[in-house]
Amino acid sequence: MKKILIINGPNLNLLGVREKEIYGSLTLNDINKILIKKFKNVSLYFYQGNIEGEIVSKIGESIGKYDGIVINPGAYSHYSIAILDAIRSIDIPVIEIHLSNIYNREEYRRKSVTAQGCKGIISGFGYYGYIMAINALINKCFGGER
Ligand code: DQA
Repeated sequence: MKKILIINGPNLNLLGVREKEIYGSLTLNDINKILIKKFKNVSLYFYQGNIEGEIVSKIGESIGKYDGIVINPGAYSHYSIAILDAIRSIDIPVIEIHLSNIYNREEYRRKSVTAQGCKGIISGFGYYGYIMAINALINKCFGGER
């Protein structure tokens, strides 16, 4: 069975409490439970971290362990060259996801540095974005489609 690591960055542990009008009312645990229920044909692993260096380490340690990564780097998306470098250092497909549509928000959110190392980016579909990203890994990346 293919193994997928889902990484959530800073403040995503506060989902369900934080700015619900933007991020919805589901907690991160609620979202993870939905994903586990939905995907029986892949093994899902979850990591949430608020510290940039720890996320960098987690990405580097993924070599040989996972077949794909879904990442929501939170605010680090907009400026973390360290996370971008980590994503570029591994030969594992990475898909970036944002709950909100970062392109219709504040100017400083409209650029993702980290997405520049990713296969693709999904933004604006709330928790459903995680489902879309996992499906993209399964159907496109693992299928060897170009
Ligand atoms: C976010 C968007 C980021 O700009 C923000 O800093 C977050 C959440 C999203 O999922 O929409 O923490 O990544």
